[in-house]
Amino acid sequence: MPEADREGERYALDQPQQTPGFYLKGSHQLDWGMKNRMARVFDPRSGRTVMLAIDHGYFQGPTTGLERIDLSIVPLLPSCDALFCTRGILRTVIPAQCQKPMVLRASGGPSILRDELSDEEIAMDMDDAVRLNAAGVGIQVFIGGEHETRSVHNMTRLVDAGLRAGVPVMGITAVGKAMVRDAKYFRLACRIIAELGAQYVKTYYVDDGFETITASCPVPIVMAGGKKLPELEALTMAYSAVQQGACGVDMGRNIFQSGAPQAMIEAVAAVVHKNLKPKQAFELFRSLKADAERGAANVAAE
Ligand code: R5P
Repeated sequence: MPEADREGERYALDQPQQTPGFYLKGSHQLDWGMKNRMARVFDPRSGRTVMLAIDHGYFQGPTTGLERIDLSIVPLLPSCDALFCTRGILRTVIPAQCQKPMVLRASGGPSILRDELSDEEIAMDMDDAVRLNAAGVGIQVFIGGEHETRSVHNMTRLVDAGLRAGVPVMGITAVGKAMVRDAKYFRLACRIIAELGAQYVKTYYVDDGFETITASCPVPIVMAGGKKLPELEALTMAYSAVQQGACGVDMGRNIFQSGAPQAMIEAVAAVVHKNLKPKQAFELFRSLKADAERGAANVAAE
């Protein structure tokens, strides 16, 4: 029997984990405040989220597409379910009247000028997340990295603080250059993050065996987008991830570096919340992009 079939049996892919009394995997025994914050991020109608990740500046500075968040990202806010950003951008650029849930980046340290990115510390007090009315916080965990133990300890301290305040923690699988990005690695990393208390996990998609990563992780997984891909490929990846058990996406570059970010986020949302197939989602993207270009041309002609 091929290995993939044996893995399918061991992970019991045909028997989803039960979630009695609440719609999110592994969240049914959390306290009210924690559940309420989770329900702000994950749409109760679909059980999924389109989180827009724009936290990259915490180590990359004004990276491509995020040079002017007020101009490029604020107009996209109505189309996402939640924003993943730093507290600096939240306080300085995101309008306080915005009702979208905010998930805040809570780790930092080395910049892209350093080789070893795992040398992170907790970079925000839970008190400040509460003060900012955050719906959650996110932190990198470098399984197998040089500073693995510290990054795990950073997360567990944040989880303890989050449990005191009722704020969910999203643990993020940060992959070092030496790591192989395969299902075996991500099963290990996601499971460790969930076992040590994170309420949900953000991880990357892999073509082979992604469903075993979601099946063996007892909390919701959201898919990180990764480097910019052609739109059809990015939509296909998002579709595959949610069909294989992801509870949505936390995508950045594949949205804000698209030639038409508004069209792309709406196409991603159709994939995530309505199970729109990739080719149809790409058609939606192209038609929304064409509408936007016509609108811009009309304005320019006036
Ligand atoms: C994660 O650690 C990063 O800071 C981003 O939040 C994450 O990589 C998601 O963004 P992207 O879709 O651009 O990879």
